[in-house]
Amino acid sequence: MSIGLEWSTVVRRATGASALLCVPLLLALLPGIVAGVRSGQNPVDASPHASSAQYVGSIACSRCHDAIYRSYSRTAMGRSMEPGAGEHFSDLSLPARFTNDQIDRRFEVFARDGKLYESEFAPAADGSEMFRDTRSIAWMIGAGMNGYGPVVEQDHYLFQAPLSFYTRPGTWGPSPGYESADLGFNRPILAGCIFCHAGRANPVAGTNGQYADPPFSESSIGCENCHGPGGAHVDAMSHPSTAKGAHIVSPARLSPYLADNICMACHQTGDVRVLKPGKTYRDVWPGQPLDETLSILIVPPSPESPPDVDHVEHYYSMTLSKCYRSSGARLSCISCHDPHVQPTPVEAPAYFSRKCMACHSNQSCKIPLQVRMSKQPANDCAGCHMPKRDIQVISHSSATNHRIIARPDEPFPDITFHQAAAAMPDLIDLDPAPGKEAAALPDLTLLEAYGELAASRPQYVGSYLQVLARLEKSEPGNAMVQASVGRRELKAGNFASAAEHLQRALALSPPQATTCADLADALTHLDRKDDAVTWLDKSIRLDPFNPFTQRTLVVRLIDLKQYARARAALEHYVQVFPQDAFMRRMLEKARAQPVP
Ligand code: HEC
Ligand code: HEC
Ligand code: HEC
Ligand code: HEC
Ligand code: HEC
Ligand code: HEC
Ligand code: HEC
Repeated sequence: MSIGLEWSTVVRRATGASALLCVPLLLALLPGIVAGVRSGQNPVDASPHASSAQYVGSIACSRCHDAIYRSYSRTAMGRSMEPGAGEHFSDLSLPARFTNDQIDRRFEVFARDGKLYESEFAPAADGSEMFRDTRSIAWMIGAGMNGYGPVVEQDHYLFQAPLSFYTRPGTWGPSPGYESADLGFNRPILAGCIFCHAGRANPVAGTNGQYADPPFSESSIGCENCHGPGGAHVDAMSHPSTAKGAHIVSPARLSPYLADNICMACHQTGDVRVLKPGKTYRDVWPGQPLDETLSILIVPPSPESPPDVDHVEHYYSMTLSKCYRSSGARLSCISCHDPHVQPTPVEAPAYFSRKCMACHSNQSCKIPLQVRMSKQPANDCAGCHMPKRDIQVISHSSATNHRIIARPDEPFPDITFHQAAAAMPDLIDLDPAPGKEAAALPDLTLLEAYGELAASRPQYVGSYLQVLARLEKSEPGNAMVQASVGRRELKAGNFASAAEHLQRALALSPPQATTCADLADALTHLDRKDDAVTWLDKSIRLDPFNPFTQRTLVVRLIDLKQYARARAALEHYVQVFPQDAFMRRMLEKARAQPVP
């Protein structure tokens, strides 16, 4: 059964498509999970910063910065995530129904007693329902710029819901990735996803979507996401006579590079985002180089496939603009955006044109002023030079091209195709710290990056295996390295060697669900089927909402002729994944037979 195993040993859903509302590739590539594999600490992510720093929450800042607080709270970032209570969402066209013919499923979204619910069902030929799965929506991701993505909670695990709301048409439709795949309510919300959308999430390290209670210390993105923890500042400002310094990060006083790092952490997806060894998302620290915590990498573009994505690629696009390159990198996100203020669509043209005037004048443009003034809106610099384009992978959504082009057909600058460093020719590092531009990444970081890229791009398998061979020698005591060697051996059919490495990985750090499942796989091939079931059970306990391991358990138990246990596992499976028609039929057949 080792066919279909990915290279990397990342905890990952085996339900097929890996798209998500934001960027289709992201879910498969989300690094939060990898961090868990590596650090594998117990409860909530532990980090030196997180334990020593005092987060106080945005409300505490409002006491002295009331005007900023009120203005910021009206921006999309200030409303990035809210509890799923119905009364906040009067504009959601409720109740709503949606039929997805591709997967033969129906959906409903409705409000009841002030709460929002989503349900999935399938009608039977006789008009009854084959199944119905109804969940209350715990959280809504998004401020509705393009849409809202509902989140459900079960046993402290968070999951995406199959239907999302799209603002432009004002209707509900499949969440990205659910268009042609029925993933039910089982796609976990991982640390790397929610990091960009919530003020402060409390993911449990090493798990596939488990959160502490409460899951969020602050739901929407707040002051401290950009200014760092404010405890020391509040103390100092409360005793101004003794205070020395402000004890708070002020982005305007940072170098453009460090200021952009704050925004990049959430506004630059790249092809793969990898945490540095031993780091978690909680170590991302405004004012410190992002490079210390997170690497954002892209596959080098070629003239045949130039970079052409706008969605959450604002930093990369900006750096390709002539404004950025010819101003000695003086252009930064905050040259144009004051995050405390979101201009309305009517205000935006004049607001952003003023920002251009910091470096340009009305004479900079080749189009005569009276021609520009005659357009609606008048002289909208950004409207012509930063066009909005549809996002290919998300229906009904658009984003602004931050490459700031003179005309739509403007070719990419040459440098676009020569950005990879000689030390790492097959990847571009988008956030190297100054002075580290020419350096390769640490091997452990590369292993994760190549492993995740190899899942969808076979050309990275070679690089992955090379790095793994180096690490096998240099870091044999690392659990992730042993787990990766184990998986390599499993894929190669060397089951005894696989079992040995996987067992070593399990002895080195708290057990990971994927490693247990791989070991079960190896032991099955070694004809140690009882032991295999023990490890599968363990994998399921560590990752209780993974349909793949649970299906495998049913198959293994049948194989062992343990019919009563197989049937119990099947009953449990259908309860957790009612949308799985194949397993539902299997259970019906099992029920029709007398228990042996
Ligand atoms: C007790 C009142 C008080 C509270 C509470 C408070 N501040 Fe301040 N803050 C001030 C004062 C006063 C200044 C101006 C001090 C100065 O310029 O040295 C200031 C300045 C700042 C600055 C600019 C610093 C600089 O170097 O220019 C930032 C940023 C800031 N506060 C953010 C926050 C955030 C974020 C919070 C909540 C975590 C917060 N403040 C809570 C009183 C407060
Ligand atoms: C913790 C993650 C995070 C950080 C840090 C962050 N953003 Fe955002 N930002 C978001 C998310 C998520 C949205 C989309 C909110 C929505 O629509 O739900 C957003 C929206 C925006 C928007 C569009 C809507 C608005 O509120 O104006 C702008 C502009 C923006 N961010 C600029 C910035 C800049 C500039 C920085 C750095 C100074 C920054 N952001 C830092 C996550 C972040
Ligand atoms: C790298 C940071 C990042 C990651 C990871 C990420 N997003 Fe986003 N997402 C954004 C930003 C930023 C926006 C706003 C669009 C923009 O400004 O370009 C956004 C937009 C959205 C929106 C639409 C919000 C609106 O107001 O229109 C939803 C819903 C959403 N994301 C859900 C998700 C989910 C679910 C995941 C994970 C499974 C995820 N995102 C992963 C950064 C991220
Ligand atoms: C998305 C990032 C982001 C968030 C969130 C954010 N700020 Fe800021 N803040 C900035 C940036 C960037 C500047 C520098 C703006 C400039 O001067 O160009 C700044 C400047 C400040 C300043 C000093 C300058 C001034 O305008 O007085 C204060 C005080 C401040 N922020 C308070 C807050 C408070 C309070 C909150 C929460 C309600 C908050 N900020 C949320 C990015 C952010
Ligand atoms: C930090 C300074 C800075 C800011 C802010 C800035 N630019 Fe530029 N921009 C430059 C420089 C420098 C150049 C290159 C010199 C030149 O060709 O005139 C440039 C070039 C351009 C070009 C020519 C692009 C090309 O590829 O030929 C356009 C168009 C442009 N800017 C539009 C804008 C618009 C629109 C804004 C505001 C939304 C803006 N710029 C904001 C510095 C800036
Ligand atoms: C030269 C000016 C300029 C710079 C620099 C700039 N932006 Fe923007 N940005 C804009 C304009 C103009 C819009 C469109 C605003 C509107 O239509 O309301 C925009 C829109 C956005 C949005 C809303 C989503 C979208 O794509 O329409 C986000 C998020 C954003 N910018 C983030 C960033 C980040 C992060 C950086 C730094 C990497 C940055 N911007 C740098 C001018 C700029
Ligand atoms: C109606 C659309 C439109 C508006 C509005 C507009 N531009 Fe342009 N601009 C253009 C076009 C088209 C060109 C390229 C003309 C060509 O190369 O033949 C251009 C060229 C430029 C250039 C490059 C000049 C060069 O030497 O190559 C700059 C810089 C520029 N515009 C800045 C601005 C600024 C700043 C504003 C706002 C004050 C602005 N534009 C408003 C359409 C517009």
